[in-house]
Amino acid sequence: MSGRKKVAVLISGRGSNMEALIKAARAAGCPFEITAVISNNPGAGGLKTAREEGIATAVIDHREFETREAFEEVLYETLLVFAADLVACAGFMRIMTEGFTRRLEGRMLNIHPSLLPAYKGLHTHERALRDGVRLHGCTVHFVTADLDGGPIIIQGAAPVLSGDTADTLAARVLRVEHKIFPRALALVASGRARLENGRTVIEADADEAAFITSPSL
Ligand code: GRF
Repeated sequence: MSGRKKVAVLISGRGSNMEALIKAARAAGCPFEITAVISNNPGAGGLKTAREEGIATAVIDHREFETREAFEEVLYETLLVFAADLVACAGFMRIMTEGFTRRLEGRMLNIHPSLLPAYKGLHTHERALRDGVRLHGCTVHFVTADLDGGPIIIQGAAPVLSGDTADTLAARVLRVEHKIFPRALALVASGRARLENGRTVIEADADEAAFITSPSL
């Protein structure tokens, strides 16, 4: 089908967000298709899932490269081979150089398990619990050289409940991740969200805007 944006998904692990994107792409009228899944980790569980879904996979093991730049060069070439219009980082655990992020400016999205700019980096759920916040969640943003600091596209909220452990909270946030990532990707693929002058410009109606803050949707 022409007109749909080709998306390469980058993963390092289990790939549940990747699965959510694959499922969303199957819906009628979805403006993107998942054409490749690429992992830096040969043992990533998501690779098997992608293959079972009939999606092309590639492994680029970062440990085989002397430098970050050398790894990224092969990654970039692979994206060209798959003719990726957009790149979705779904639990891709590699820090990217400024040069690489520039080449994909406005075309690469990442999902992060916190309401950014709170809790950049790792162990977000443990840190949220330690701080005693009542509202937690996840964010999809454009990737820039600023780690977890790129312009925000969509956020989804999840409450912190008494008795939560990092695992129960992570599971609650993950369900929201699976909802907002396909939505954000669809907004970018359809041109209704874009990166302009370092900010996200987004055309969303009131219902879509409500989605951003309502964990039950
Ligand atoms: C997700 O929580 C995502 O936000 C974070 O890494 C986790 C990946 O999970 N960046 P999965 O591989 O998509 O299941």
